[in-house]
Amino acid sequence: MVRKAVLPVAGLGTRFLPVTKSVPKELLPGVDTPALQLIVEECVRSGLDDVLFVSAMGKSSMEDHFDRRLDLERELEAKGKDDQLELVRRLAELAHVHSVRQGEALGLGHAVLQAAGHVGPDDSFAVLLGDDLLDPESDFLERMVAVHERTSRPVVALMEVPEEQVGLYGIATVQPGEREGEHLISGLVEKPDAADAPSNLAVIGRYVLPGSIFGVLEDLPPGRGGEIQLTDALEVMAAEEPIVGLTLDVPRFDAGDKLGYLQANVAFALRRPDLGPQLRAWLEDLLAGDDPRAGA
Ligand code: G1P
Repeated sequence: MVRKAVLPVAGLGTRFLPVTKSVPKELLPGVDTPALQLIVEECVRSGLDDVLFVSAMGKSSMEDHFDRRLDLERELEAKGKDDQLELVRRLAELAHVHSVRQGEALGLGHAVLQAAGHVGPDDSFAVLLGDDLLDPESDFLERMVAVHERTSRPVVALMEVPEEQVGLYGIATVQPGEREGEHLISGLVEKPDAADAPSNLAVIGRYVLPGSIFGVLEDLPPGRGGEIQLTDALEVMAAEEPIVGLTLDVPRFDAGDKLGYLQANVAFALRRPDLGPQLRAWLEDLLAGDDPRAGA
C-alpha cells in the first residue's frame, strides 16, 4: 500500500518574482485555492494521506495553511458563516502533513533524498511537483499507484512535448508496455539538447517510487546543472530493469510558467458554477472587443 507522498517545495520561485519575494510560489492560487492545496487534495484522493513537504527557510506559511486557525474559526462561527468555517476546518484534517528542510538547493534528487528518514527504504511513495497541476478531479495519480502495486517498478507520468521543449524535461527511451497507455522505459536523460533526445516523451511531475531509490540517490554524482537529479537515479534503475511510463491522459497545466498559470486559472474558473458562466460571457465580450468594462 502506497500511503506517503513527498512534495519538493523548497524552491525560491524566481520565475514568479516579485510576488514570490514574500509569498511561496506554492501558495499562489488556482482561483481561490493554493496550488499546494490542490496537490495535497490530489494525494488524498489517490489514497496518500501522509504528506511530507521538503521545504526551506522562509516558507513556513505553507505548513500554516494546513494547521488550525482558531481566531478565524471563532470569527466565522460567531458570524454564522458555516460554509467558510467548514472550508477552513477541513484543511487541518485533510492529511497528515509533515515537513523537513532542504538546507541547500542541490537539485530535485537531493530534495527527494531528504525524505529518506520519513519514508524509509522499504516503503514506496509518490513524488508530486507543484509546477505540474493536473485536472482537479483527475484520478491519474491513483492509476499510477495501481500500476506500481502491480509491477513493483518505479512509475512516471509521460507526455509528448514539441521538439523545442525537450530541453526542459527528463526525456525517456521507450518500448511499448503491457497495457494501453503504458511504456517500458529503458533509459532517461535530463534536459537533453533536441538533437540528442531519444524521443519527445517527457517526464511530468508525478512519480511513484520504491524506497530503494534512496540508496541510488545517495551514491549519485551531480548531473545536469551540477545538481543531484532524480532523472539520473531513475536512469540507473531503468538500466537494471525497465521502469514504467504511464501516458498522461488528463489536462495538465505548467503552473511554473506564467502563461500556464494563467491558463490553469481560467480553465478552473470556467468550470465553477459560481464563476464560470459570468467569466465566459466576459471573456467572449473581451475577445470580441465590444465590452467597455473589459478594458480592451
Ligand atoms: C523537473 C525534472 C524533470 C521533469 C520536470 C517535470 O524539472 O528535473 O526531469 O521532466 O521536473 O516538470 P524542473 O521543471 O524542476 O526543472
